[in-house]
Amino acid sequence: MTLGELYAEGQAALEEKGLAWLLNAVETGFVLEHDRRVLDSYTLKPRYIDAPLPDTAVEVLGVELASPVVMSAVTMPIPKIAEHGMSQMAEGLREAGSLLWCGTPVPANLAELCALELPVVANAKPFRERGRIFEMIEQFQKAGATWIGLEIDAAEGTKIGDQAMVADCAPLSLAELREIRREVQCPLILKGVLSAEDAAKAAEAEADGIVVSNHGGHTLDYLPHALQVLDEIRAVARDRLAIVADGGIRRGSDVLKCLAMGADLVGVVRPLLWGLAADGSEGVRGVISGLGEELRRIMGLLGAASPRELNRTMLIPGP
Ligand SMILES: Cc1cc2nc3c(=O)[nH]c(=O)nc-3n(C[C@H](O)[C@H](O)[C@H](O)COP(=O)(O)O)c2cc1C
Repeated sequence: MTLGELYAEGQAALEEKGLAWLLNAVETGFVLEHDRRVLDSYTLKPRYIDAPLPDTAVEVLGVELASPVVMSAVTMPIPKIAEHGMSQMAEGLREAGSLLWCGTPVPANLAELCALELPVVANAKPFRERGRIFEMIEQFQKAGATWIGLEIDAAEGTKIGDQAMVADCAPLSLAELREIRREVQCPLILKGVLSAEDAAKAAEAEADGIVVSNHGGHTLDYLPHALQVLDEIRAVARDRLAIVADGGIRRGSDVLKCLAMGADLVGVVRPLLWGLAADGSEGVRGVISGLGEELRRIMGLLGAASPRELNRTMLIPGP
């Protein structure tokens, strides 16, 4: 199936199962529409002559991937979409040479997923009861997680439309981040950074990476898209923090725009949920491979032999 077919079939299947509303955004729904507008506001500047043969493979924080396209954090709807949904997701991602990123709730079979021979990231929310965060970190490390993620942006929990989804959270301080850092033995990634100030604090806390993300519109209404803040964040992160960007990525051209603005990896969630709903693990593989192939197709014609060679001179901002 093509990407377009996987998306359309997956959307129809989620409607039928009564799960489509879980993909909506908080309150007015602004974030999702805005994501599309921002991504569409850049065009691409090709350089056809002497175009290199591109290779999409990357290595980030010791993890080798077939392309910079990865899963972003999610668990909640996956077991409702397909039986053994997390395992099917993991198998599809492994076949595509990508990584599995678990969200809330922590999958009961996390250790089994980690044994499936693909990199696995496990996320914790900033629960008000701080002991829970440390218990989760211990659980992730015992299970064998490759990286640990911490959702600094879920400080007021999460919401879809007017419905609260996760509560009992509270903002983390820099001192608490440092304490968490001391417990985490593997790379630590702070998710939800949207300002140079938070990127600087992530570096001060000695995190290894950040996810520049508006949480797919599940936290605050009227958050910007990653592309709008990557410039200032890249300037602070320099070589100190790996940068993952996500939000509304649907095509290889969207992936490319985030890479050109300074991201090292680009995450997707809704496309993977559609792929899983449409065709199980094969649909998941198809989404990651399809996005990677679209990325490869554009890269060379812009003059980039590898994702690292993409830069903002290849993008033209404007209407
Ligand atoms: C149904 C759903 C559940 C999500 N659950 C989590 C989560 O548990 N933790 C988290 O950090 N982000 C979560 N997210 C946000 C994603 O990790 C990601 O930032 C966002 O969805 C990317 O945008 P996209 O869905 O348009 O690709 C969730 C998103 C969706 C749509």
